[in-house]
Amino acid sequence: MDLYEYQAKELFAAHGVPVLPGTVATTPQEAEEAARRMLAEGSSLLVIKAQVKTGGRGKAGGVKLARSVEEARARAEEILGMDIKGHTVRTVLVADGVDIAAELYFSVLLDRAERRYLAMCSREGGMDIETLAKERPEDLARVGVDPLVGITPQVAQQIVAAARIEPPQVAAQVAQVIERLWEVFTAEDATLVEVNPLVLTPDGRVLALDGKVSLDDNSAFRHPGHAAFKDTRDADPLETRAKEAGLNYVRLEGQVGVLGNGAGLVMSTLDVVAGAGESHGGMRPANFLDLGGGSSAEVMATGLEVVASDPQVRAILVNVFGGITSCDTVAEGIITAVRELEGFSKPVVVRLDGNNAELAHQMLAEAALPGVTVVETMDGAADVVTAIAEQQGA
Ligand SMILES: Nc1ncnc2c1ncn2[C@@H]1O[C@H](COP(=O)(O)OP(=O)(O)O)[C@@H](O)[C@H]1O
Ligand SMILES: [Mg+2]
Repeated sequence: MDLYEYQAKELFAAHGVPVLPGTVATTPQEAEEAARRMLAEGSSLLVIKAQVKTGGRGKAGGVKLARSVEEARARAEEILGMDIKGHTVRTVLVADGVDIAAELYFSVLLDRAERRYLAMCSREGGMDIETLAKERPEDLARVGVDPLVGITPQVAQQIVAAARIEPPQVAAQVAQVIERLWEVFTAEDATLVEVNPLVLTPDGRVLALDGKVSLDDNSAFRHPGHAAFKDTRDADPLETRAKEAGLNYVRLEGQVGVLGNGAGLVMSTLDVVAGAGESHGGMRPANFLDLGGGSSAEVMATGLEVVASDPQVRAILVNVFGGITSCDTVAEGIITAVRELEGFSKPVVVRLDGNNAELAHQMLAEAALPGVTVVETMDGAADVVTAIAEQQGA
């Protein structure tokens, strides 16, 4: 799960990373009230910042200064509702503004290929880090972090030295903040912690002005507090519904709905569909859906309903190998779903093999459902379903 800047900064503050106070607002009125309170408490400069899960908000006009209550309200009015790279701004952060002497960059992330972590640090913060890495790679220090050692004070010093952070007193301060950010990374089970910019102020402070954190969902059970970070407004409604039904569903970009049992079989089904689609107008899988082992006819029906309600799906492939779930149970689910789901009209191609396959074929033949085709092999089924999908789009 990716966090909003304001959420990342909550975690920063909890682990001693210096951040500026801020308040979130979802209406200009709320932004005005926050600004009034912050100005009364002694702030002289405020920043209104769009909260969207994408970078480059500054460049897109989503980060603006305000010096009065009226200005804060006006800026919030402009920013709320803005579209930044396809993300609608529904929340702004009203934060204290600071004078900036220098903008640095720091991040730590999981480096899967190297089986370790990677820390990156630069004196050239503020700008887009991909651009920096491409145009001036020598200005982006990259230091591998041994997971068994972590970012100790020595490693933190090594990082700031590699980034040529100067003078020594500033380097020491930055190193300390890096140690705290490493604590955020490990204690919160993050896969990414990025601060861009990490700023130096003219009065000698080091502050995290921006924050990007990705949390490892596999560790959610260890962090009951993280549930509060979830933004249901952004969730894919189909994924939410599938999750509620206990289905393992991931939405993809294509036109062919896919249901199967067992992650391995479903993954290879996606490959086979994409392969077959190359000869049928470039049809691609529209989703991953693993019904799981031992699934009932009801689960099958719910799965079909979820997949079929995706408007981009033109045809559906059910590919099941009957083991614990025998094929006749799957057939029963298909028959129920196609007969009972209101307005179910999408073509379904079925390939069933394994336990009770013959009985299942017989049941499907007797039901004679319109739009349902049974194909014996996986490759054959992929070919038929992509051909149907291509035709449906014509
Ligand atoms: N609290 C703040 N005070 C002063 N300037 C800020 C503040 N927050 C951000 N900025 C400026 O705006 C720029 C962009 O903000 P940032 O939070 O990094 O958003 P993004 O990375 O999405 O563009 C920063 O590089 C910094 O120069
Ligand atoms: Mg930034």
